[in-house]
Amino acid sequence: MFDPTKEPFTYRRDALAASYCDALEGRGILDASSGLFLAGPRRTGKSTFLRDDLMPQMRLRGWEPLYVDLWADRARDPAELIIAAIRQALARFDGPVLKAAKRVGLEKLTVLKVVSLDFSKIGQPGGATIADALQALHTKCGKPLALLVDEAQHALSSPAGVAAMFALKAARDQLNQGQRNHERSLHLVMTGSNRDKLTHLVLRKSQPFFGAGITRFPLLDRGFIEAYALWLNRQFAPGCGFEVDVLMQAFELVGHRPEMLKTVVGEAVTELGGAAGLSQQLAQNAQQLQRRAWHEFESTYNGLPPAQKAVFDAVARLSPGYEPFAATALAAYQAMLGKPLSTSAIQGALDALRDKELVWRAGRGHYALEDDGLQAWYLQSHPQTPVLTPPSVSLALPIG
Ligand SMILES: Nc1ncnc2c1ncn2[C@@H]1O[C@H](COP(=O)(O)OP(=O)(O)OP(=O)(O)O)[C@@H](O)[C@H]1O
Ligand SMILES: [Mg+2]
Repeated sequence: MFDPTKEPFTYRRDALAASYCDALEGRGILDASSGLFLAGPRRTGKSTFLRDDLMPQMRLRGWEPLYVDLWADRARDPAELIIAAIRQALARFDGPVLKAAKRVGLEKLTVLKVVSLDFSKIGQPGGATIADALQALHTKCGKPLALLVDEAQHALSSPAGVAAMFALKAARDQLNQGQRNHERSLHLVMTGSNRDKLTHLVLRKSQPFFGAGITRFPLLDRGFIEAYALWLNRQFAPGCGFEVDVLMQAFELVGHRPEMLKTVVGEAVTELGGAAGLSQQLAQNAQQLQRRAWHEFESTYNGLPPAQKAVFDAVARLSPGYEPFAATALAAYQAMLGKPLSTSAIQGALDALRDKELVWRAGRGHYALEDDGLQAWYLQSHPQTPVLTPPSVSLALPIG
């Protein structure tokens, strides 16, 4: 009996992880010595890669990786989450440092300095700064540190989060200063689901990591599909399995998202009579698969009132240069609605789109779509700005 949950399928990207570590050390073709900023669409395997590939590779190199997910708890301030991760790591090394301190008779200045700082109040007045805390952690564990901040753009949504990002930059500069052979004591890795969002960390002088580049995180590729086909086809009689080409085509249609592919395969088995059914569906109605991948978004989008649709369209089309009240944006709303939108209606629409997690806001009025994949899908299915017909006729938009 087909049961894809029996044994979890995992696919490792060790070579990619190694190349990123080289880049962080400044030894790769890609130079990420001032920080690695990885952008990739939602649900395409960023966190899995950090956890299962990149962190193990860092440990192999003798680094101490720390992982923070700024979306893990949206109720908590991003700065608090970063500080909590550092504090946890400090606690992990407390045992070894106390032993080490006893061994050297508490004489070593660096150790004394570590002991005297107040780490219960990191980042607060009177407490240690984030840079001090990371320096102390580095001294305690005696290894280069790597801080991995998943969904880093989320930090930009609060002033404390922005301050924490600046503090990380300061820490990076403080820890890496005066190192021999350009060795680094602190490596920074940040991920985000949208290139435009991450850009807000690096674009302007006033932004924390001004000057660093954004790297597009590679989507899972044919190697993943080949490994998946091997795993999958062990569960079928010879000749009844899925072909790599067919799986690859389906994977592309669902935006290179593993979960979606698993759903498609599961449905092919239960509803289409197996692998042959999927091949047939792809040959006859590939678009149906693609639409299913975006089904949830499509129904949310269809339910939006006209003003929100117009603002959404403008963000999608004008990003990264979109500014809500610029002449280009005002013209775009008008083109779609047939009449101008008032300032308060624009603001109201943006707030509603943020609540629905379709649009993301960095402080100071910069907006972007939540996800690169979402933008690509929307523009592909709406190559022209749709013109909304008056409500009395129809509000429904043709999709596809
Ligand atoms: N290398 C892999 N091998 C097998 N499955 C994977 C792999 N990478 C990701 N997946 C699966 O894809 C799904 C999404 O992965 P993950 O949560 O890492 O993506 P993400 O890009 O971080 O998503 P989000 O945008 O929600 O943060 C998970 O179900 C995960 O198990
Ligand atoms: Mg993730």
